Amino acid sequence: MKQDSQVQYRFPADFWWGSAASATQTEGAADRDGKGKNIWDYWYELEPHRFHGGVGPADTSKFYDRYEEDIRLMKELGHNSFRFSISWARLFPQGHGEINEKAVHFYNKVIDQLLANGIQPFVNLYHFDMPLALQEKGGWESRFVVDCFAEYASTAFRLFGDRVKKWFTHNEPIVPVEGGYLYNFHYPNLCDFQKAVQVGFHTILSSAKAIKAYRELGQDGQIGIILNLTPSYPRSNHPADLEASRIADAFFNRSFLDPSVKGTFPPDLVELLRSVNHLPIIEEGDLELIKANTIDLLGINYYQPRRVKARESVPNPQAPLLPEHFFDFYEMPGRKMNPYRGWEIYEKGIYDILINVKENYDNIPCYISENGMGVEHEERFLDEQGMIQDDYRIDFIKGHLKEVHRALQEGVNVKGYHLWTFMDNWSWLNAYKNRYGFVSVDLASDAKRTVKKSGYWFKEMVDKQGF
Ligand code: BG6
Repeated sequence: MKQDSQVQYRFPADFWWGSAASATQTEGAADRDGKGKNIWDYWYELEPHRFHGGVGPADTSKFYDRYEEDIRLMKELGHNSFRFSISWARLFPQGHGEINEKAVHFYNKVIDQLLANGIQPFVNLYHFDMPLALQEKGGWESRFVVDCFAEYASTAFRLFGDRVKKWFTHNEPIVPVEGGYLYNFHYPNLCDFQKAVQVGFHTILSSAKAIKAYRELGQDGQIGIILNLTPSYPRSNHPADLEASRIADAFFNRSFLDPSVKGTFPPDLVELLRSVNHLPIIEEGDLELIKANTIDLLGINYYQPRRVKARESVPNPQAPLLPEHFFDFYEMPGRKMNPYRGWEIYEKGIYDILINVKENYDNIPCYISENGMGVEHEERFLDEQGMIQDDYRIDFIKGHLKEVHRALQEGVNVKGYHLWTFMDNWSWLNAYKNRYGFVSVDLASDAKRTVKKSGYWFKEMVDKQGF
């Protein structure tokens, strides 16, 4: 290929370019073709008012019916890889036991269609969507569910592993811990630190069991986990601020990063949990299993940094224990914000994460598995041809890719970049409030797909191997 001399930031020819999505957020058909309910279907029945605009998960972006058209568009937009998740409750309506053959048929079609279009399927097993039947048995609090996950994972490897060569056990496993067991933005809406710790531990254990099952099958792909890494920046170099950032980093980053990559838990986190008498129940052999089954490949989701400072007040001794017992959040003056999502935009964060992975995690192969910008009312930016002129998204991607490029130059083993997300989708509690896609989805007109300016920009950038 002739190289374009205009390209200032050039990426390797085999770089993975694409986007990411998840089953519950895109498939729709939530109650069709034998799918079991998951916690989102159920929570929406209980409390529809919690979801933006009262819109629930039943009929999200219709990927189930329109995957062929969507995959053709992915190809048009330069994708060589695409990450999606399997809906556990679609494949196993009861979470274990009987398999839903219609789900097997659907995922086979998706995988085959991707491959036929030259797009590598990257498949994630758990993206926040616990089957309701298993939540009723305790969800991630239960060891039975951990074993069901291992059964689900090995079934998926057996069914699809002849064609899928990149597997991920979990997407952002800290998020269900936070949402479901600390901060009330996922079902079961608890605020219970002890359960949160147990759920976190069981999630890691389930990941290790799935990795073990993968290796035992002797398949020739790679298996990893996807973590949302949020660098913890201290307000200042004061020892108390540095301590706050160390603790936040232990809770939100190293809690999953260390066991996934190194096979061990961070000693300072263990010590802290011991000091507040909240260690999880660990059974004989668990730690050895985690140690023996670490990942091949790390997916990194990056949206925002976490800025912290030393606590300014003594915590209320009656209040439930939360990580913020140990630090306060810090709003840096002058920070750049995405006002729709309320998240800071800090491009250098992605570089700092990658350098940390290089220096402290043996430069394990990694890729940016999500990065993106959710914007409300994008119809404001429609041009006369009906295309959304999302220059802000192009700037956002460029800003982050420059930092990825810098990390590459410095020897980080970073293999690709996926945008969140391919087409506008259902963002959990935010439903369709903020739009993230390369492709817009018009809910008022049968979910019609229209490529945004960023989609075509991406295609051109991939063709030139940079910008
Ligand atoms: C990631 C998740 O946390 O961020 C996605 O993996 C999610 O599922 C995305 O949609 C954007 O966040 P949100 O809450 O705006 O949808």
